[in-house]
Amino acid sequence: MKPLLSLLLASLLCVSPLSGQAQNPTPEAEALLASALALAPDAKRGAAEFAEQSCTACHRKDASGRPASNTPRLSRQHAAVIIKQVLDIRSGLRHNPPMQPMVTEEELSLQTLADIAAYLQSLPVTGKLAKGPGSGVARGKQVFDNACSGCHGAGGEGTQAIFAPMVAAQHYPYLLRELEFIRDGKRGNSNPAMSSLIKAYTQDDLQAVADYMAQLPAPERP
Ligand code: HEC
Ligand code: HEC
Repeated sequence: MKPLLSLLLASLLCVSPLSGQAQNPTPEAEALLASALALAPDAKRGAAEFAEQSCTACHRKDASGRPASNTPRLSRQHAAVIIKQVLDIRSGLRHNPPMQPMVTEEELSLQTLADIAAYLQSLPVTGKLAKGPGSGVARGKQVFDNACSGCHGAGGEGTQAIFAPMVAAQHYPYLLRELEFIRDGKRGNSNPAMSSLIKAYTQDDLQAVADYMAQLPAPERP
């Protein structure tokens, strides 16, 4: 493509990264993601690296997360999702100032990231889960089965091929916060289809579906 045309296209497709609106990834970002996914990961090495890279300081040793600081559970999450999210945080597409300095190109090689992701995917779901109020579960199930399961799986297990995260057994406050970010255009790497779907949702809808997802049992296998 001619440089001028690609510039023009880029300016049409993208808004400023800091605005957090859903954006299309740049070709460079797509190529980086593809090369990370093509590496042969070593989950055993990933176990040591998860601690050495200080990920455990926030996400805990068992990767069960810290709901009070909106730090998500990472155990059992799809490796491709982990890799994509970390690269989006590195590029600033997903805004995460406390974590960003630790995942720069200098601090975290693609091989180390792939190793850590394979390790996290292999981990069982342990630790305490911050559940929702419970009152939204029945209504949340209706919403989820109708509108979300096509991408996130009938049991909230996620779909690796489209980078849709596992949402089962995730902390309620984190789920609700991300839904609000995605609805309000504050998560720069949001899936555009999902983002427009939940634009019309009320706060009650979001709370109910988060309540439902949090209590879904984690899948046995990734
Ligand atoms: C300073 C605390 C901190 C450290 C250290 C940290 N994280 Fe995070 N991480 C967070 C927080 C907080 C979020 C959620 C931010 C948000 O809501 O967008 C997050 C989000 C993530 C996500 C997105 C998960 C999802 O479900 O979308 C991944 C993957 C991740 N971190 C991996 C890592 C890895 C790997 C390391 C080590 C290299 C690491 N983090 C180090 C705080 C931290
Ligand atoms: C068209 C497919 C699609 C649909 C429909 C969809 N999602 Fe998503 N969702 C995604 C993708 C893909 C991501 C990850 C976006 C990214 O790359 O950062 C995501 C991210 C999320 C996250 C953030 C998870 C995390 O770990 O940070 C939550 C929560 C979520 N979706 C819940 C829902 C709910 C609830 C619905 C139904 C109301 C829904 N999604 C409908 C594709 C979809």
